[in-house]
Amino acid sequence: MSRLTTQALTLAYEDRTVVEDLDLAIPDGRVTVIVGPNACGKSTTLRALGRLLKPKSGAVLLDGSELAKLPTKRIAQQIGLLPQTPVAPEAITVADLVSRGRQPHQHWWQQWSDEDERAVTEAMARTDVTDLAERSVDELSGGQRQRVWIAMALAQETDLLLLDEPTTYLDISHQVEVLDLVRQLNHDKGRTVVVVLHDLNQAARYADHLVAMKSGRVVASGPPSEVVTADLVHEVFGLDCVVVPDPVTGSPLVVPGAPWKAA
Ligand SMILES: Nc1ncnc2c1ncn2[C@@H]1O[C@H](COP(=O)(O)OP(=O)(O)OP(=O)(O)O)[C@@H](O)[C@H]1O
Ligand SMILES: [Mg+2]
Repeated sequence: MSRLTTQALTLAYEDRTVVEDLDLAIPDGRVTVIVGPNACGKSTTLRALGRLLKPKSGAVLLDGSELAKLPTKRIAQQIGLLPQTPVAPEAITVADLVSRGRQPHQHWWQQWSDEDERAVTEAMARTDVTDLAERSVDELSGGQRQRVWIAMALAQETDLLLLDEPTTYLDISHQVEVLDLVRQLNHDKGRTVVVVLHDLNQAARYADHLVAMKSGRVVASGPPSEVVTADLVHEVFGLDCVVVPDPVTGSPLVVPGAPWKAA
């Protein structure tokens, strides 16, 4: 079952088509990871799934209705999107930015509820930014800032969560923490998550469903054990590698060929 699907979706910036004729079905209650080379259209696709970008043709459907025809607030209650390079309002504090994730749930008669407070406190605790609450977002390190954005997306508490490279800027332990958090949210709350990742080994570890894109098209999709092969990595990334079982999880582990050496 898929609440979120695309039908013959074509996306373009002015006349330059970036994604063509894409038919995607995001499996409900699963973690989908999108991989693919730079500029292949991953962020463009994710933005269309979150209605930040209007299709040139075709459609994105949420529960069978065209996203383009649904009220913005209703979409924001269902779909949370963390873009690849979000921009914070100047001099905003961490607590204020995370609180903005609650906007879709607020009403004219009640700006802030106990439920909002709980969601914000929980999101900040889960992303380890509680101690930064009063700091200005401008003054944070890249990794701290990235965790604050993730907190904002979590505070929105949507059933569908789209994360574009959420591990960028993070050190290895925070990367693992964020990806474990994605799994946890998926497990505890049945959230459907779509994540764009560059690290194929992390993708293979954390995805239930892996989508490999190249030049605006899906080249392969399915469970990582079926998708991640040396042939696929060569086809999509032009990289020679061997694929071995990850010693911890058994998922496919991509090991690139030998490094360059002077002759
Ligand atoms: N706002 C924009 N205006 C014009 N062209 C754009 C815009 N955003 C992206 N593009 C172009 O669309 C293509 C796909 O970009 P996109 O950001 O979707 O790639 P990506 O797969 O997310 O890459 P990366 O791994 O580098 O993040 C690129 O050629 C890019 O230059
Ligand atoms: Mg991108």
